[in-house]
Amino acid sequence: MAQASPIRGFNDDVLKESVRDFWNADPCGARYLQDGDDFEAHARTRYELEPYIHEFAGFARSAGQRVLEVGVGMGADYLEWLKAGARVSGVDFSSASVERAKHRCEMAGYEPDLRVCDAEHLPFPDNTFDIVYSYGVMHHSPDTPQCIREARRVLRPGGALRIMIYHHLSLTGLMLWLRYGFLRGKSVRRSVHDHLESPGTKSYTRKEARSMLQGFDQIKFQQVFSPGDLLLNEPSARFQNFTYRII
Ligand SMILES: C[S@@+](CC[C@H](N)C(=O)[O-])C[C@H]1O[C@@H](n2cnc3c(N)ncnc32)[C@H](O)[C@@H]1O
Repeated sequence: MAQASPIRGFNDDVLKESVRDFWNADPCGARYLQDGDDFEAHARTRYELEPYIHEFAGFARSAGQRVLEVGVGMGADYLEWLKAGARVSGVDFSSASVERAKHRCEMAGYEPDLRVCDAEHLPFPDNTFDIVYSYGVMHHSPDTPQCIREARRVLRPGGALRIMIYHHLSLTGLMLWLRYGFLRGKSVRRSVHDHLESPGTKSYTRKEARSMLQGFDQIKFQQVFSPGDLLLNEPSARFQNFTYRII
């Protein structure tokens, strides 16, 4: 059995099941649906809160490219790839999320290639994709370096990996530490692990990220404040009091 979680005492297989249960119970972004099928409201809120996603993903430059999206969630970005004319496959290990994403794409008139599978074990041959894209996913999987190795395996030589993972330290991490860690003797990492979305979430310094990305050339980092850092989205609104605002 694997044991890659940086926090001692957590078994990866058990943790992975908890992560899957978490996202099945609450598919990512479901809170932004005003009713079950209002995917436009979800997309509107998502891109208002994170306007940099389009440029980072490069949807507009992807026509004809073979793209894999790892961790599609409810499929907002996956649909953008389709609209842009990319030949895109998508995976997520939450079947509830994949179902919602499929429904979303079919409602928009597309035939999606979406599968339920684990980012640590991708069901694609080596050297398949021009782009592997993954937004806010790999830090939730117990063995993040293995997700990156898999992404690299399925990328063709010269292909591009575009991933968003959480930064250490972040304002969100500090807020969680103040709220849950400070008085209980938990580290910032442990506060993030225990309290940021699904169980076992990790955050990475640039040095740690660079080390996971060994073997890639031309590594570029971009650090942005997330809606969570800025207390703009629903879950982080619970921190909207004076002290946290100052932080
Ligand atoms: C925060 S959501 C992000 C979803 C989407 N990328 C977005 O930005 O809305 C995290 C997603 O990662 C998926 N996920 C976590 N670990 C995974 C794994 N090992 N394999 C596949 N999907 C995973 C979850 O099911 C969830 O849908």
